[in-house]
Amino acid sequence: MKNKFLHLIFSLVLMTMVSSCNDKKETTEVRKGNYRIVDNTIVFDEPQRIEGQKSVLQFTVDPIENVRIGFIGLGMRGPDAVDRMTYIDGVTVNALCDIEPDRVEAVQTNILEKKGLPRAAAYTGREGWKELCQRDDIDLVYICTNWQTHVEMAVYAMQQGKHVAVEVPAATSIEECWQLVDVAEQTQRHCMMLENCCYDFFELTALNMAQQGMFGELIHGEGAYIHNLEPYWHEYYENWRLEFNQSHAGDVYPTHGLGPLCQAFNIHRGDRMKTLVAMATPSYNGKKIAKEMMGVDDFANGDMTTTMIQTEKGKTLLIEHDVYTYRPYNRLYQLTGTEGFANKYPIEGFTLLEDKLPAGFLAEGQHLNPHGFVPAEVRDKILKEYLHPIAVEIEEKAKEVGGHGGMDFVMDYRLIYCLQHGLPLDQDVYDAAEWSCLGELTAASIANGGMPVMMPDFTRGDWNKVKGYKHAR
Ligand SMILES: NC(=O)c1ccc[n+]([C@@H]2O[C@H](COP(=O)([O-])OP(=O)(O)OC[C@H]3O[C@@H](n4cnc5c(N)ncnc54)[C@H](O)[C@@H]3O)[C@@H](O)[C@H]2O)c1
Repeated sequence: MKNKFLHLIFSLVLMTMVSSCNDKKETTEVRKGNYRIVDNTIVFDEPQRIEGQKSVLQFTVDPIENVRIGFIGLGMRGPDAVDRMTYIDGVTVNALCDIEPDRVEAVQTNILEKKGLPRAAAYTGREGWKELCQRDDIDLVYICTNWQTHVEMAVYAMQQGKHVAVEVPAATSIEECWQLVDVAEQTQRHCMMLENCCYDFFELTALNMAQQGMFGELIHGEGAYIHNLEPYWHEYYENWRLEFNQSHAGDVYPTHGLGPLCQAFNIHRGDRMKTLVAMATPSYNGKKIAKEMMGVDDFANGDMTTTMIQTEKGKTLLIEHDVYTYRPYNRLYQLTGTEGFANKYPIEGFTLLEDKLPAGFLAEGQHLNPHGFVPAEVRDKILKEYLHPIAVEIEEKAKEVGGHGGMDFVMDYRLIYCLQHGLPLDQDVYDAAEWSCLGELTAASIANGGMPVMMPDFTRGDWNKVKGYKHAR
C-alpha cells in the first residue's frame, strides 16, 4: 500500500516536471534567404515604411479631364487595350512602345489611323520605354509586357510622375510587391493592376448581392485559373511565359481567381489575408512541353497548384492554378455565405433563402429549394434585378467593344472614369501586391512541405481603416 502511494506521488511529480518543461518550450527559428521559419510557420521579412513615405489608401489626385496614355508592350494583349481606349471619351493615345518596330507600326496603322486618330509617338528597342515614361504629355503609363518587366517599368514610370496601370500579375516576388507599394507611397502616384476578372458581369452581380447581404455572412470563397495554355505557349515573345513557369514553383498566375474574391471579402477594407498553405502535384504536362520547346528535363511548376488562405476573421479562400491539363476553362468563382451561395463555373447559379428576395419576386406559389440552385428563370431574373450599377451604366457598350466578353472594357472605363473624376481607383497598389504575392508565398509553402506562411500586410497596419469594399462614384 505504502509502495503504491509512493509510486503515485512519484508519477505526479514526474508529470508536473514534464508539463512545466513543455510550458518552457523554446521558440525555434531558422533563416532561409528572405524568410524565417518561426515555430513551423514561414515569415517573410517586412521592410519598414521609410520617413516621408505616406500611405496611399483611398488615394486620389485632382481630376484629369483628358487622360493621355503611353502604352508599353504590343504583343497579344497590348493592341486590344489601345483599341478599347479609343472608345472612351477624354482619352488620347500619345505614345506607343514595343521592342519590335513592326508591332508599334501595326497599332499605328490598324488601330489609330484606321479610326482617323493621329499617329502616336513611337518607341522601340529594349530601352525605348524609358523615353516614353520621360515624356511630359503622358498621365498614365499602361504596361502590357511580360511579367518579368512589370515592376521595373511601373517603378520608373511612377518616379517620372506618371500613374501606372499594369497587367497581371503586377509583380513576381515579395521584394517586387514591396517595391511597388513603396514607390507608389513615395511618389504619391496611382498604381493599379489590370485585374479584368473583377469586372466580369456575373462577378459584379454577385458582389452587388453579397454587399446587400443576400448570402448572409460570407465565410468561404473559391477562385482559380484553370486554362490549358497548350495553343498559346509558342506565341509568347521569346518564350517568356514557359521560361518563367519552368523556373518557378507555386501559383504564378493567381490574380484572376483571387481578385474578385478579395473584393467580396473586403480584403484590406475590414479583413486581411493572414496565412496560406499551398501544395502542388508533380509536373507531367509542363515538363513535356518544356522538353519539346526548351530541351530541358526539369520543370519547377506543378501541373496543379492548390492554395488555402485564412483571413484575419477566420474566413477561408481556396485558389487553384492549372495551365497544363485538359480541362474546360474554369475560374471557379464561388461565394459561400451563411445564408446563400453563388457559383460561376461550370454553371452560373445561386442558392438563396426565399426571404432574401423582395416580396413578389417569386411567382405565386413558387418556392426555392435551399439544397439546390434556384430555377433558371429565377436566376435570370436575379441577374437582371441585381445587375451591378456599373454594369447598368456600361454593359451594352462593353459588350459591343468586347475584350473577354466586355469585362476588359468595363475595367478600362472604370480606370478612366476614376481618373477623370479624381476618385480612388477600384484596385489600389495594396491590392496589386496582395494578389500578386501569392506566387512567391505559395512556392515557399510548397518547398517546405505545405508549411503555413504568414501573408505580409502591405498596408502596414491600415487594413481595418476602410470599412467595406466600394467602387467610388
Ligand atoms: N488580364 C488578362 O486577361 C490577360 C490576358 C493575356 C495576357 N495578360 C497579361 O498581359 C501581359 C502581356 O501578355 P501577352 O500575352 O500580350 O504577351 P506577349 O508575349 O504576346 O507580348 C508581350 C509584348 O511585350 C513586349 N516587350 C517585352 N519587353 C519589352 C520592353 N523592354 N520594351 C517594350 N516592349 C517590350 C514584347 O515585344 C511583346 O510584344 C502579361 O502580363 C500577361 O499576363 C493578361
